[in-house]
Amino acid sequence: EFRQLVFSGIQPTGNLHLGNYLGALKKFVTLQDTYECIYCVVDLHSLTATLVHEDLADQTRAIAAAYLACGLDPEKSIIFNQARVPQHAELAWIFNCVARIGWMNRMTQFKDKAGKDRENASLGLLAYPSLMAADILVYRATHVPVGEDQKQHLELTRDIAQKFNNDFSARIAELGYGVEMAVGEEKVSGFFPLTEPLIEGPATRVMSLRDGSKKMSKSDPSDLSRINLTDDADAIARKIRKAKTDPEPLPSDLAGLEGRPEAENLIGIYAALADISREQVIAEFGGRQFSDFKPALADLAVATLEPIGKEMRRIAADPAYVDKVLRDGGERAAVIAEETMKKVREIVGL
Ligand code: ADP
Ligand code: NA
Repeated sequence: EFRQLVFSGIQPTGNLHLGNYLGALKKFVTLQDTYECIYCVVDLHSLTATLVHEDLADQTRAIAAAYLACGLDPEKSIIFNQARVPQHAELAWIFNCVARIGWMNRMTQFKDKAGKDRENASLGLLAYPSLMAADILVYRATHVPVGEDQKQHLELTRDIAQKFNNDFSARIAELGYGVEMAVGEEKVSGFFPLTEPLIEGPATRVMSLRDGSKKMSKSDPSDLSRINLTDDADAIARKIRKAKTDPEPLPSDLAGLEGRPEAENLIGIYAALADISREQVIAEFGGRQFSDFKPALADLAVATLEPIGKEMRRIAADPAYVDKVLRDGGERAAVIAEETMKKVREIVGL
């Protein structure tokens, strides 16, 4: 069996928002008490869309500061930035030769980000999921907490692991590097695990506050569409007050959320922030007006996010400390990554 290990990462581009917090960061923190966890700031990924970043190092520190402010503990979890561990890029190259172009072309995130002029997108943007697979598999991680938008990339990671395991099955057996794992009913042996995504809870896909059909995203031009982790109490409350809703009161059961994406989104956010189920939110607020519900949601959001924002600013004011966390984390990560790569080089015959 593979050692249980959690890996995830966030790009150092733009402001973190409530979707990143509920879909990813909050789970990172919970998991560090039960698993060995590795959390990365994926700076190499941020070159895929925009090559020249004036402040990449500062943005990287800002994400690391957010990790720490949300409660990640560098004594428990490994926190570092991707570029410090060159084994990620080395394994990604091998995976570029394992994966097929057709697999990459099918990725919805590539289609969205490349837009109409696909021929002119960077090769890195196309190969992004291959680097993401390497990020995960260079630690042979078994679990990856992410938002729902990453599900397709996790499936591709499994496809790459499986093809590597198959293509090199004879070498892996000869070297004795195979690890037994359960795939459905079957027991199979492979070098890389088939990593499971952890996409759970009431807020795996937080939607825009202005349009219930779009996910909350840092690239949305409307600032009212998202709550940033750096927003102050007034901004948080104002955005929730202005959040789009329908004229009906809140429904009295979950089925009543059907066809009401804005209500569903706000209830999911409340549940995730309060660590309760959506049923429990409805038990409390069902039948009441949004004018009752929104102030309660705003209070809850402010109580959770305002201290995180303050802590982010406090930590970011000490860049030397953040750099030390990233450097120490990078050293620890590199030890595990190099153990994997030594074997991969042998398997491949390099
Ligand atoms: P963005 O999508 O804003 O560019 P990233 O791609 O850096 O942000 O995402 C970082 C993490 O946050 C990923 O695990 C992603 O799945 C999660 N995430 C991003 N947006 C949302 C959202 N609206 N709801 C839930 N999780 C999200
Ligand atoms: Na995303």
